[in-house]
Amino acid sequence: MKIIAGNWKMNGSRELLDEMMGALGELHTENRVILCVPYTMLRSGDVSVMIGAQNVSKYDSGAHTGEISAEMVAETGASVTLGGHSECRAAQQDTNADVAKRAELAIKNDLLPIICVGETADERDAGLTHKIIEQGVRESIPANAKNGGFIVAYEPRWAIGAGITPTTEQIAEAHKIIRDILDEMGFAETYILYGASVTSANSAEIMSIKNVDGVLVGGASLKKDDFIPIIQSVK
Ligand code: PGA
Repeated sequence: MKIIAGNWKMNGSRELLDEMMGALGELHTENRVILCVPYTMLRSGDVSVMIGAQNVSKYDSGAHTGEISAEMVAETGASVTLGGHSECRAAQQDTNADVAKRAELAIKNDLLPIICVGETADERDAGLTHKIIEQGVRESIPANAKNGGFIVAYEPRWAIGAGITPTTEQIAEAHKIIRDILDEMGFAETYILYGASVTSANSAEIMSIKNVDGVLVGGASLKKDDFIPIIQSVK
């Protein structure tokens, strides 16, 4: 089984979600499909798709105007959340410790966190890719994480939304680093997704790379005709 997760970012509508869930319901895929949607569209998923948020607060509750807690997301019936997506890390200056706090609260509230890690272009150019990925994984996984109770997504920040896809070797190398660290930490059952510029044209090849257990899809998750072929491309 592979995991195909969509990240709608600040796009879509309840109507589009209804339409997408209807289409996904007719697929009868063996794979797990997740849609991470804006807060206002959160609700329970169904047998064919799990619904998730794109972030949760690092606080339990209190005077944090505009924030949404993990408990509130869970109350909608949603069952997943992204954590540490590069756009959130950039917008909120999140450190790995902040991401770990968000993931900790997600787990505490029975949400499945998808913890995103990845290097910027400057970090890659400076030869820091391995270090950034390693720190991202070690420091963003919270103490209450259980083997298989969270997902890691490798998202090279220089490729997200840019239409650039890393080479097969670059993806394989990053996923091997993550797999080795997860094994060492006792998290061998944890899925590792690849995310950045995934389309139906490259998804089959990407998902055939060793240690790639699925994909996290931004732009191409918004249209049925783009997203469904990605799910069907799994070999
Ligand atoms: P993209 O986004 O597929 O549009 O590059 C990926 C992501 O942000 O998760």
